[in-house]
Amino acid sequence: MTDTVVLKLGGSVVTDKSGDCAIDHARITAIASEIAARRADGIVLIHGAGSCGHPEARRYRLGEGLTLGNTPGIYHTHAAVCRLNTAIVETLRTAGLEALGLHPLDMGLAENGRLVAFETGHIEEMINHGIVPVLHGDVVMDRNRGACIVSGDQLVLYLARRLKNSRVGLATDVPGVLKEGAVIPAIDRAGIGAIAIGGSGNTDVTGGMQGKIAELLTLADDGIESNIFHVSKVGAFLDGVDHGGTIVGRSR
Ligand code: IPE
Repeated sequence: MTDTVVLKLGGSVVTDKSGDCAIDHARITAIASEIAARRADGIVLIHGAGSCGHPEARRYRLGEGLTLGNTPGIYHTHAAVCRLNTAIVETLRTAGLEALGLHPLDMGLAENGRLVAFETGHIEEMINHGIVPVLHGDVVMDRNRGACIVSGDQLVLYLARRLKNSRVGLATDVPGVLKEGAVIPAIDRAGIGAIAIGGSGNTDVTGGMQGKIAELLTLADDGIESNIFHVSKVGAFLDGVDHGGTIVGRSR
């Protein structure tokens, strides 16, 4: 195997973010066939929560950690995003991929909102056996806050650093990072100050595009570049051809 693709599907591409756990089955089916047509191994999928998890996390104020009375929010937020995970895994399996759902609540531990422990050895074994692990942004127990939300973007960072030769892609509902309506083809830490990046219009407890760029710049500091592109370009990204989006890389 030459590389490991870490592909994140944003919550806004797999759900209707303005709905109430409105899973976009047609979109997921289209993505599954793009992936199945190209590669069955060497790929880890991570998806966001969209309308299956963000509304619950906000309702129970999990962003503030565990405060008196909001502990049931762990269950409700996790259950919502797991519903989405099951739908995605089943669709991938129908498309012929040996997909398995993995839940960060079960295997991760955070401190102040950042993962400090997360087993990846079994993910490597799965990849070696042609299995497609499908992870997701989730609520995770936190040593300082009780619980926190770990975004899919944070998981991208964590996994891309640990898996060998990772190629990182983030499929979104916009063509890339935009400035005055035009895609910015490349972003690095040196140039980021000049770019005003908008947040997300819908319920988003993990920082929208700004949160995403912050994670990806940290990854770029380690020499791993990442690609942000429109979901219709998943095939182009997997093929390694121009996806018309934004590449986040190290400052030169
Ligand atoms: C959020 O994950 C996880 C929960 C709220 C449970 P993400 O932050 O990666 O989700 P999206 O992509 O913004 O929807």
